Amino acid sequence: MRKKIVAGNWKMNLDLNEGAELVNDIFKGLPVLSEHKQVVIAPPYLHLTQTAAQLTGMIDVQLGAQNCYSESAGAFTGEVSAAMLKSAEVAFVIIGHSERREYFREDSAMLAKKVNQVLINDMKVIFCCGEPLEIRDAGTQNTYVETQINEGIFHLGEAQLQNVVIAYEPIWAIGTGRTATSAQAQDMHAHIRGVIAAKYGKDVAENMTILYGGSCKPSNAAELFACADVDGGLIGGASLKASEFLGIIEAMADL
Ligand code: PGA
Repeated sequence: MRKKIVAGNWKMNLDLNEGAELVNDIFKGLPVLSEHKQVVIAPPYLHLTQTAAQLTGMIDVQLGAQNCYSESAGAFTGEVSAAMLKSAEVAFVIIGHSERREYFREDSAMLAKKVNQVLINDMKVIFCCGEPLEIRDAGTQNTYVETQINEGIFHLGEAQLQNVVIAYEPIWAIGTGRTATSAQAQDMHAHIRGVIAAKYGKDVAENMTILYGGSCKPSNAAELFACADVDGGLIGGASLKASEFLGIIEAMADL
């Protein structure tokens, strides 16, 4: 049975005190989750050791990072390696978020190297893909996303792929309040699963967790998560408020 995941990406928000408070508030309302359901919290790097300490002993909630560097160590001022993240008890690393691709010019070759760094260091990848509005309007989103997946993770072997989660995040839906309809999400998720199946076989594709991201909120999470190929969400804005994040976790818990 494939895992359902709700992951919170805080992006560049919250100072250390605010972060600690948010994690405490999430704990207070956290529902009991069955075996195949998981929450991930991905704060900024600076928070990681603090959040890791707060998560000690928790199985249902794991620590995530929002990025890592593509090289293993050395003279790369300002960067953080995957090995450092591992030593801070990070379990998941988000790679290829559209903000990284756009503002920091991360291309597919760099992302493939980052994916490798995460896997070499025994963590899991949350690999983001998704099309901009002009691609959606042109109706070529399937090929666009397929190319991102092909270039970012198709160099991996079958065993490595088991440590990869895909997050489909249409750029036009991120932080815009314009969510993809559940039909649009389901269509793309089914396409992605088909692309995985064509390369790695049906079993691997069936076990792949595919998250939806883009203006996911308590009011639309249940409908999105009810889609056959949507296995949870990667949550930005709504992960910054305990009540909203918990509402989305509840939608997963109820599945
Ligand atoms: P959003 O962001 O939930 O604020 O739209 C999603 C994301 O970028 O992961």
